[in-house]
Amino acid sequence: MDREPNSSFATTDNAGGHEDEFKVTPWEVEGEIDYNRLIEKFGTQSITTEIMEKVKSMTGEIHPMLKLGYFFSHRDFDWILDKQKSGENFYLYTGRGPSGMVHMGHLMPWMFTKYLQDKFNSKLLFQLTDDEKFLYSHDRSRKEIEHYTRENILDIIAVGFNPDKTRIIIDTRHIQHLYPIATEIAKKITFSTAKAVFGFSNSTNIGMIGFPPIQAAPCFLPSIIEGRQVPVLIPAAIDQDPYWRMTRDVADRLGYYKPAQIHSKFLPGLGMLGKMSSSKPETAIFTSDEPETIEKKSLTAFTGGQATISLQKQLGGNPLGCPVFWYLRYFFDTEKQSDERMVLCKSGNLMCGECKGDLAKGAKSFIVEFKKRRQKAENVVEKFMFDAKEM
Ligand code: TRP
Repeated sequence: MDREPNSSFATTDNAGGHEDEFKVTPWEVEGEIDYNRLIEKFGTQSITTEIMEKVKSMTGEIHPMLKLGYFFSHRDFDWILDKQKSGENFYLYTGRGPSGMVHMGHLMPWMFTKYLQDKFNSKLLFQLTDDEKFLYSHDRSRKEIEHYTRENILDIIAVGFNPDKTRIIIDTRHIQHLYPIATEIAKKITFSTAKAVFGFSNSTNIGMIGFPPIQAAPCFLPSIIEGRQVPVLIPAAIDQDPYWRMTRDVADRLGYYKPAQIHSKFLPGLGMLGKMSSSKPETAIFTSDEPETIEKKSLTAFTGGQATISLQKQLGGNPLGCPVFWYLRYFFDTEKQSDERMVLCKSGNLMCGECKGDLAKGAKSFIVEFKKRRQKAENVVEKFMFDAKEM
């Protein structure tokens, strides 16, 4: 494996003897995350200014999500840019576990994926792991997962991916295209490796234990479709990294390129600084939320401000510990506006009410527009479905 960590699952640091106060696995994200520590733990690389310059030399600009550090870590991103330069165009691959409705935190990596698709003219595979979410969930029926799968597809299409270059894979529907590759992968992975990488235990159901090769399979599908080794770039939140470590480990032996990744942070929840969560709906803004709900969530959000206005004026706020600040920075402010907002907040010259108002306004109009596109998506769902013959 690439600089294999002890385990992606346990966050105890044996060598140092102290425990991290956060947990990041594909199924659980908890606590205040130290992203630099994750780079160390997972053995990934940080996105350096040289890499950003390389991107700029190819696209003419540096997207704010790269520049502002939302995408902060990678494996082989520089390699895949070089491949692209030399005429080996890469595929993009990303996905969604349909366990609930989609919120703004989910949209960020997808919006960046669309941006990459437009800039590099890439084909994209988008996987919906309905099997994974059914297997993992204690209380969701197959029917509920099917419902979320249908709803989530509308959101994915509404992001604006190129209909001619994007195909959606639903695991239970398109399994015949994944299964042959998945068995090749599965045969190379022992239970002991799977336990170390994913933290499975004797009480994990065996569906979960057998699942990871299904998420790995789309990394190699482009090579099968094109009949040659095809480089694949995966934009995804950092919690998915265990899958890619496993996939990279077997790639060579199966005769494929290792998939490259760029890893994002999480958009913080509006309740406090954890990941925005579907299981705590009041802390996230969903694409299905009504304007009044968005207004209410924004105006009652947790902030990095002081307890009273006079204290705020005296001491200033803490923008970096404020979810409202991050929301505005990533979604609605320009870099300049955001930097100014930070200075004003720290110096006690900006009150939380103003930022929360800006968030309410920005998010309401964003979601109104998004909903229009989501509705139109109903008519083109089948066009987006994976079809081995036409890719
Ligand atoms: N396991 C992911 C989730 O729970 C879904 C997923 C499948 C995915 N393939 C992916 C995410 C590729 C990012 C990239 O959300």
